[in-house]
Amino acid sequence: MKILLTGGLGYIGSHTAVEVINAGHETIIIDNLSNSKIEVLEKIEKITKKRPKFYQEDVCDINALTKVFKENPDIFAVIHFAGFKAVGESCKEPLKYYKNNLISTLNLLEVMEKFNCKNFIFSSSATVYAVSEIMPLEEDFPLGASNPYGRTKLFNEEILEDYQNAHPDFNIVLLRYFNPIGAHESGLLGEDPNGIPNNLMPYICKVATGELDHLNIFGKDYNTKDGTGVRDYIHIVDLAKGHIKALEKMLEENVGLKIYNLGTGTGYSVLDIVNTFNKVNGNLVKYEFVARRPGDIAMCYASPSKAEKELGFKTTKTLEDMCRSSYLYQKNNKK
Ligand code: NAD
Ligand code: UD1
Repeated sequence: MKILLTGGLGYIGSHTAVEVINAGHETIIIDNLSNSKIEVLEKIEKITKKRPKFYQEDVCDINALTKVFKENPDIFAVIHFAGFKAVGESCKEPLKYYKNNLISTLNLLEVMEKFNCKNFIFSSSATVYAVSEIMPLEEDFPLGASNPYGRTKLFNEEILEDYQNAHPDFNIVLLRYFNPIGAHESGLLGEDPNGIPNNLMPYICKVATGELDHLNIFGKDYNTKDGTGVRDYIHIVDLAKGHIKALEKMLEENVGLKIYNLGTGTGYSVLDIVNTFNKVNGNLVKYEFVARRPGDIAMCYASPSKAEKELGFKTTKTLEDMCRSSYLYQKNNKK
């Protein structure tokens, strides 16, 4: 089958492209390189021995999108990764986020309808869940985002639900990712944020290579087992494979609209991550405790049961795998 990946040269898209190719599908990528590099295409080819068809285009440009569908009229499904994802930036530049993250989806739906392409997988996020005292988070828990980025995900979910209600033969899978970390075992693909990272694992990796001095741990007085924040970290390759499970389901049946968490179901604290990283990679990461980061919550982890039951999705990688592969990629790509 022909599968179109928007944002397919980004962190999650590139790992998913590898899995889509390995599953025997023909892969087409659209990416405007706003947060990725063209070299990723060569790396996908190096790993899979197949070169995806690539369009350097903006998904917000409906003419460009129409051209892609005209040249590839038999696309079976679209996996829509393209979007901006930095929470802090979204608070400073909300319009940039609303434009890119919403218009891209609207354009895709419009063009897919024109070309009779009826299967859509969307990159949603755990950030759409309202703050909850109860863990693990299940798909039918209350929703409520607390920043513009999160709201773009929530609005996208609602737009897609409205669209599916009006088009019952259109199939949508909303995948709510928890915290993807780690890298491809080849060391060729991984996460490579510009500037000083905001997220935990990219920051730890830069401390380990000596690019940053030490990790600041945000808060040690949360109501968690060791006082530091707890999250559901999922290996990027496991996460990528979740998309294949969703595709397989769409190949088997009309799914209508389905929502799945992609997480492991296990919460690890910041100290668990640092200690495991230091255990598998050598004692490289020093840390200090500082004040809580505004907006952070104590705990967030998924119930993976629905994805396991309905998609047969089960993660296989360990926290050690996540820490080892993240560092391998960082060493290979040290600037
Ligand atoms: P990323 O920034 O690495 O990848 C996004 C890709 O989309 C980049 O290659 C970028 O160049 C491209 N892009 C952005 N806007 C575009 C446009 N208008 N047209 C064409 N290409 C465009 O991000 P990622 O971590 O791979 O995330 C992928 C998706 O998953 C995003 O929608 C993100 O919001 C979502 N998500 C990510 C996380 C995470 O922790 N990484 C968690 C939950 C959800
Ligand atoms: C981030 C995103 C969120 C997204 C989620 C999953 C932000 C503000 N939020 O949240 O929108 O849905 O990833 O991808 O970017 N930590 C430190 N020191 C650091 C960095 C982080 O102690 O330098 C701690 C945090 O307080 C938190 C944990 O590490 O307890 C994980 O942080 P992070 O990687 O930023 O992920 P989330 O906070 O879950």
